[in-house]
Amino acid sequence: MTVLGQIYVMGYGLSVSLFYSNHYYYHHTMASVSNHLRNSNTTILHRILKSSSAARCFSQLPNSTPKSSLKDNELAKFAAISQSWWDSEGPFKPLHVMNPTRLAFIRSTLCRHFKRDPYSVRPFEGLKIVDVGCGGGILSEPLARMGATVTGVDAVEKNIKIARLHADLDPTTSNIEFCCTTAEKLVEEGRQFDAVMALEVIEHVAEPAEFCKSLSALTIPEGATVISTINRSMRAYATAIVAAEYILRWLPIGTHQWSTFLTPMELVLILQRAGINVEEMAGFVYNPVTGRWSLSDDISVNFIAFGTKPKNSA
Ligand SMILES: C[S@@+](CC[C@H](N)C(=O)[O-])C[C@H]1O[C@@H](n2cnc3c(N)ncnc32)[C@H](O)[C@@H]1O
Repeated sequence: MTVLGQIYVMGYGLSVSLFYSNHYYYHHTMASVSNHLRNSNTTILHRILKSSSAARCFSQLPNSTPKSSLKDNELAKFAAISQSWWDSEGPFKPLHVMNPTRLAFIRSTLCRHFKRDPYSVRPFEGLKIVDVGCGGGILSEPLARMGATVTGVDAVEKNIKIARLHADLDPTTSNIEFCCTTAEKLVEEGRQFDAVMALEVIEHVAEPAEFCKSLSALTIPEGATVISTINRSMRAYATAIVAAEYILRWLPIGTHQWSTFLTPMELVLILQRAGINVEEMAGFVYNPVTGRWSLSDDISVNFIAFGTKPKNSA
């Protein structure tokens, strides 16, 4: 392994080394980040928690009553374009184009964690997976084709109707359970899954820390949690908002608010506080020449994190 980079928490002198593996991913990187943070003195942690940029993520105390993750204005945006979920040239084109890349990360990390053969046709056979904020089922469907027993949930009824209609077109996806509900409601119902996915959702929820607590509660001990989102970096502002929304018109203007993005460090911290240890992280980078996305060590814009829940946790 070679040293690839360092995350600097400006002003606090906290730096964490990142290590790079042969297969694009930060093997054990986030475990070492977590260990570092666990061992770091609480003053540094408290300063991070008190900083204005992080305050939004940590606004709930760990043992307070979970708050709703719903943000009406965000849900309205998705309801307005719900007919377009399966239009591969429509507003969800970026998700369709990114899908093979994020599935490659999910296949690789889940197969390693659950000791499955990544080259088998149905590597997730027997695994129960929930896709939180599933939209029209762009991720749920391939997970089901890979053998998982999939539950897809979304807070927008119209999305769930589209997801159901589309999944019913194919016998390999027609057994997906789609429900119009939230992660916190599933927790109240006592549901648990081997793996919990929340891709491109956390930037649209009301309380990211509370949301992560719900994702953790939905994950069985020794289970896995995968989250993808957008980094709160200047590069992300330039590319994911200015270029994608205003110049290229890939997404409707206003789809994303820069202030709702989380940095990788913030995501690691709120997941850690929720009981999930982030073990691997990768970036997604877009090649404008090929029009394709690929996994990368560059986590400055789009990134995905894989975490696990320890054996003896609730
Ligand atoms: C950008 S889309 C991502 C869809 C899907 N995860 C994917 O990556 O293909 C975000 C989705 O999250 C849903 N959503 C937003 N807030 C939610 C919440 N609090 N609970 C459940 N779903 C939510 C939206 O309705 C929308 O379908």
